[in-house]
Amino acid sequence: MKRNPTIEAGKIRLRPLSQNDLKLKVNWINDPEVSKYLHYELPLRLNKTRKWFENIADDKSRYDFTIETKDKKAIGLIGFIGINYTHKTAEFYIAIGEKTFWNKGYATQALSALVKWGFGELKLEKIWAITRKYNFASIALMHKIGFQIEGILRKEKNVGNIREDVYRLGLLKKEFKSSIKTKIP
Ligand SMILES: CC(C)(COP(=O)(O)OP(=O)(O)OC[C@H]1O[C@@H](n2cnc3c(N)ncnc32)[C@H](O)[C@@H]1OP(=O)(O)O)[C@@H](O)C(=O)NCCC(=O)NCCS
Repeated sequence: MKRNPTIEAGKIRLRPLSQNDLKLKVNWINDPEVSKYLHYELPLRLNKTRKWFENIADDKSRYDFTIETKDKKAIGLIGFIGINYTHKTAEFYIAIGEKTFWNKGYATQALSALVKWGFGELKLEKIWAITRKYNFASIALMHKIGFQIEGILRKEKNVGNIREDVYRLGLLKKEFKSSIKTKIP
């Protein structure tokens, strides 16, 4: 069975996602503002989420963490999915579920810590993600960490009654600078 470590990084900590976090996850994802740019089948149900969590316990292609503040308040989720150990690539995801913590630097510090761990401990060479064109917070976050847009998936998603472009962004190991400043108060 794989083991997630706890990653300590300045004013935040990434600790392994646990059973006890699943209620929070469901509440966060069911918040329309949090899931506006995500693609979950809503509403997310606790019983299904518990089954999902049991099923991923031995899944070596992913690592799931809860983002915690210094005083141990859980504020969001982050992790790698689809890790490809041959090509040394992984997709990441992130959501700060506690909206009062938005735009305060928490995602910057959490993503920077995850990426550093991925390049270091998992020996990844490339980390990537996709995001919808109008998810400005997500794009700003990734640019801040050093990700570059490397592809546009034209009219990829159905959003209401319009088709929306999706950007793919990638970060190479050699491009990552671990000295990104945080504005966490
Ligand atoms: C995307 C998300 C994780 C960003 O979290 P956050 O903690 O607010 O991000 P940070 O405070 O670290 O900010 C990172 C950068 O994005 C910018 N930013 C934050 N919110 C923004 C917004 N709504 N519009 C434009 N830029 C924004 C910040 O200004 C900051 O840049 P700066 O330091 O140069 O000022 C958060 O908005 C979220 O969880 N959204 C819902 C889930 C989601 O969309 N996840 C991403 C899916 S790809």
